[in-house]
Amino acid sequence: MSSATKKFGILTSGGDCPGLNAAIRGVVKPAFGLYGMNVWGSRGGFRGMITGDGHWLESEEVSGILTRGGTILGTSREKPFKSEKDSKEGLHKPDLIVENYKKLGLDALVVLGGNGTVKTANLLSEAGLNVVALPKTIDNDLWGTDMTFGFHSALDVATEGIDRLHSTADSHNRVMVVEIMGHKAGWLTLYSGLAGGGDVILIPEIPYNINSVIEHLGKRSSEGKNFSIVAVAEGAVSTEEAKLGKKEIRKKRASEGYPSISYRLAQEIEAHSDAEARVTVLGYLQRGGKPSAYDRILSTRFGTAALDLLQKGEYGKMVALEDDKVVAKDLSKVAGKLKLVPTDHDHIRTARMIGTCFGD
Ligand code: F6P
Repeated sequence: MSSATKKFGILTSGGDCPGLNAAIRGVVKPAFGLYGMNVWGSRGGFRGMITGDGHWLESEEVSGILTRGGTILGTSREKPFKSEKDSKEGLHKPDLIVENYKKLGLDALVVLGGNGTVKTANLLSEAGLNVVALPKTIDNDLWGTDMTFGFHSALDVATEGIDRLHSTADSHNRVMVVEIMGHKAGWLTLYSGLAGGGDVILIPEIPYNINSVIEHLGKRSSEGKNFSIVAVAEGAVSTEEAKLGKKEIRKKRASEGYPSISYRLAQEIEAHSDAEARVTVLGYLQRGGKPSAYDRILSTRFGTAALDLLQKGEYGKMVALEDDKVVAKDLSKVAGKLKLVPTDHDHIRTARMIGTCFGD
């Protein structure tokens, strides 16, 4: 079968997540099996394209990786356009990427990543490279797609975490504050908070008033509920903080000295009620391990859809999910935009109806 793309590079960039290997497999298996393409795997995200660190993949490398967490290609937070510093003999990083792309004889570059990656992908596309992107992140905050892969796996982990806190909270009559990833968007906290029966859900999109949280916990206690679960996104802010700029918030937090938001919340809860509060930060557990069934399917669908674009020579695109169909969006239309939780999202309404407090 003939194809517009004969040789392409592939890389995974930004924070890892379950489903990256499944997506790599979804792109590379048909590239080898259907079209006899050659695929160069860049090591450590864009870093490999900058330094030339990578290798031509063999078909065995993409076998048996569907269920494996992490990424066989390695990843990094390298942002080639961010630092304008010369990285080698007067050449800046994007130039090095273009140089290596040409040296390797690539027809296209496939990038798997989140917001920063898609932004870089668009800039490389503007610089003349043929780029196709696949949306991954446990944060699900990429504009232009209903769902990113990695989110559902992290959701399962976070939900199980909240589930497990219930019994120990109940045994000790405690308020459990559980911190969930998501600096800017609260998708993971909202979904896992709803799935895990969180009594309070605090997300960056809805600044919280600590008095509302304490009042809600007090009400539960007066109703005879001996424990409570507070699910908080790592990027949640109070109503006072919402009035400040990013830098000012950082300064304020540094002066308060808490390791993260959940510690401050637990302290405030204890200071203003009789409750005993404990903190659990789920952290990188949410990014580790094997992908869920949902993510294995989504990653594979995204991977094969990206390969279709390569075969047809449709570049400058990001594959995306829209109404459960895989579609292609122009990189220029999705890059640099965040998909936040709308405050009228149906899950918020649902949670409110069953008595969940959002701290507002
Ligand atoms: O982008 C995903 C994410 O997991 C965020 O939710 C989190 O804040 C961030 O990455 C932290 O990642 P790292 O410490 O690897 O930079």
